Amino acid sequence: MAQPKYTTHPGMVDILPDDARKWQYVEQLIHREAKIFNLEEIRTPIMEQTELIVRGLGQLTDIVSKEIFSFSRGDDHYVLRPELTAPVVRAYVEHHLEQRGGSQKLYYIGPMFRAERPQKGRQRQFHQFGIEVLGTDDAVADVEVIAFMIHIYNTIGITNTTLKLNSIGDPESRESYKKALKAHLKPNFESLSEVSKKRYDKNPLRILDSKEEEDQPFIESAPVITDYLSEGSIEHYRKVKQYLDDLKIPYEEDPYLVRGMDYYTETAFELISPDLGSQDALAGGGRYDLLVEEIGGQPTPAVGFAAGMERLMIACEELGITLGENKKVDVYIVTLGDQARKWGVKKLPELRNKGISATMDYKGRSMKAQMKDANRENARYTIIVGDNELTEGTFTFRDMAESEEHSLTFEQILARFTPAV
Ligand code: HAM
Repeated sequence: MAQPKYTTHPGMVDILPDDARKWQYVEQLIHREAKIFNLEEIRTPIMEQTELIVRGLGQLTDIVSKEIFSFSRGDDHYVLRPELTAPVVRAYVEHHLEQRGGSQKLYYIGPMFRAERPQKGRQRQFHQFGIEVLGTDDAVADVEVIAFMIHIYNTIGITNTTLKLNSIGDPESRESYKKALKAHLKPNFESLSEVSKKRYDKNPLRILDSKEEEDQPFIESAPVITDYLSEGSIEHYRKVKQYLDDLKIPYEEDPYLVRGMDYYTETAFELISPDLGSQDALAGGGRYDLLVEEIGGQPTPAVGFAAGMERLMIACEELGITLGENKKVDVYIVTLGDQARKWGVKKLPELRNKGISATMDYKGRSMKAQMKDANRENARYTIIVGDNELTEGTFTFRDMAESEEHSLTFEQILARFTPAV
């Protein structure tokens, strides 16, 4: 086949009909379960002001320094949103959502953009679903967020996951840990990887996330943040673990778990799957108690997570999980001759108005070709109509799977579908 002239941007993919059906199934499941968890949907624009994202995520993070799709219009600078926590906080502050009362329990599904090197499970346009709970510092909220995340995977059938958990404490805890970490790394500074050398002064915690071989011995022997937590952070972390135990949600503590954005405080977590290869994080999240204030709102503690839809799809494929149903249609009207075709065109809306999915041939093909097309469309029934049928007012109603035929009036055919599908 000739190479197409126009193609998608690398790392951005078309979701074609056979896959889109699976996506719809998962999205509907998320909407349904979100309702059960008493979450409300929020939808924000695809682009945001550059300053919001820089401020929100942190200038020195990989996302902001390397992966942003940005553009300008006049003096206004925008980015394609790389994540939704900062945009949701922006919406919360902009629309005074705190005035709705109580804590805001929000969820979202949508595309995000990061100019990363594409590989399996890592795209430049990818999709997340996630939740943000704003207005509470209660450890119950942390655990509700984690419980929803795990519930979605379990409902789909992805159960062989590992919840990694850490506390990165409040800013004071983190400052004293940073000092200890730098003191530990200093004697070996020259042996660190180039990336880690750069992070040493600016963002030493991110060194713990390094995948570079030469950094590993120093990471393995590094002090752990949990030894530097303040009383308040220890207590919050203890409660989170206690509630997780109460709910029988297993977790692995990982004192080196740090997340990719600067806004995190206290609880940090990731959900890992062995079925994903090198990009093994299905989802991640944590607390961000200072972000609302950072963005210009009143101090408002908050917690959330986001999950990668593409990685969820990959895990399902690896595990052989079927998502949704194959393409199918209830009725295919097979017509012979012009009169029958006219009849078919009129009957399609009558079927559809009863909630019966229906289609017919658009090309004036032979009956044999239409029957073949009905099979390709995975039609449950065909109605076969020719001049004789029109005169008699009864039609051949064929059950395609059972290869069974009945001669029925149109009303009798409709009655076969009641109660409405
Ligand atoms: P994140 O860890 O950057 O967190 O992303 C969450 C999930 O999105 C990842 O675990 C992964 O499944 C998926 N993901 C990230 N980047 C890509 C990519 N390039 N291609 C495919 N999938 C990807 C956040 O975005 C935070 N906003 C989560 C959060 C919400 N924290 C608090 N509230």
